[in-house]
Amino acid sequence: MTPQDIATPCFAIDVEALETNARLLADVKQRSGCRILLATKAYAMWRTFPMLRHYLDGTCASSPYEARLGREEFMGEVEAFSAAYSDLDIKELVQTCDTIIFNSFSQWHRYRDRVAGTARPIRCGLRINPEVSTQTVPLYDPCAPGSHLGICRHEFEGQSLEGISGLHFHSLCEQGAEDLATTWNAVVESFGDLLQGMSWVNMGGGHHITKAGYDVDLLCKLISDAQLRYGLTVYLEPGEAVALDAGVLLTSVLDVRPGIPEVAILDISATAHMPDVLEMPYRPHVYRCGTSLRCENAVEGRDAGSGAYTYRLAGPSCLAGDVIGLYAFDEPLRPGNRLFFGDMAIYSMVKTTMFNGLRHPAIALYHARSNALDISREFCYEDFRNRLA
Ligand SMILES: Cc1ncc(COP(=O)(O)O)c(C=O)c1O
Repeated sequence: MTPQDIATPCFAIDVEALETNARLLADVKQRSGCRILLATKAYAMWRTFPMLRHYLDGTCASSPYEARLGREEFMGEVEAFSAAYSDLDIKELVQTCDTIIFNSFSQWHRYRDRVAGTARPIRCGLRINPEVSTQTVPLYDPCAPGSHLGICRHEFEGQSLEGISGLHFHSLCEQGAEDLATTWNAVVESFGDLLQGMSWVNMGGGHHITKAGYDVDLLCKLISDAQLRYGLTVYLEPGEAVALDAGVLLTSVLDVRPGIPEVAILDISATAHMPDVLEMPYRPHVYRCGTSLRCENAVEGRDAGSGAYTYRLAGPSCLAGDVIGLYAFDEPLRPGNRLFFGDMAIYSMVKTTMFNGLRHPAIALYHARSNALDISREFCYEDFRNRLA
């Protein structure tokens, strides 16, 4: 098989790279005694869950659909967190989750009896906001001023924690253990007295553990600090680290049209298939295919002007801004050529399905004169699951 034989577009998951990441995470578990859950918001190709299950403890979900996917396909521990739950969410989550984490006291008060009244034992936790920013992009910073994610220390005054067995914080994004240390120190400082009475703490995701140069020793030190200081079971819930550099998005050049620089129109679109390219924004690595779907067998596109042929890579959608970026190659691009974008197993792939497993809006016809709504299509768990594989 050569990349030229593969029908495009195609997300291709590199199973061996995925397992290498999983082994590294299992090593962290073994060294530190922590538990690690896969954040399915970042990576949810459930066909690989039986392999990942050998290394990780379960999944963390952002919605009832993701929780059910974890329960049925991963078959490990299932935890859920959402900024807010509906009555229907809770009704479904109590059937699939081992742990439900609440984002406010009002949500906890609203649903605590419902959770306590279920036959299955379910642990409840609260997400805290450490109020210390360790990153500069507000879009990805749950500690940015005005954030709706996590409960600040002052909101705990006068509140009972009966029924709460753990605290959760998540404030990192593609960051090192040094930033976790800053965050953990802030948590100890502001929430240390509350941790005394807890049995677990969840340090969230955003830990770039499988990235070269990540300080695993420091991570293990911070985990043992939480274990020794407070006697806690420590959880991590990385998404990106599980599938980092473990998949590509393969595309074909459809057309090359004149312009300054020339424009290569691909059969993948920034807005439809790689929305982070426009939202963050960021510049993905692109490769001209060689003999395999591995970067080491391909030729990387470089910055504009640093090769003989520079192109603006654009998507086929109607959006004028459906542009992935300017890239230079030593050889000209022609219709039919194959390229791939690197590190596409995370986020890009789930964003093109049903991100976070959120319920998809129904589609209906509204008749204003009679004020009647005719629902044409509703979407369910199977729609979510079947858009993945
Ligand atoms: C609560 C929570 N946990 C875990 C994650 C996974 O983070 P990452 O994929 O960066 O490891 C996220 C990402 O947004 C998150 O919001």
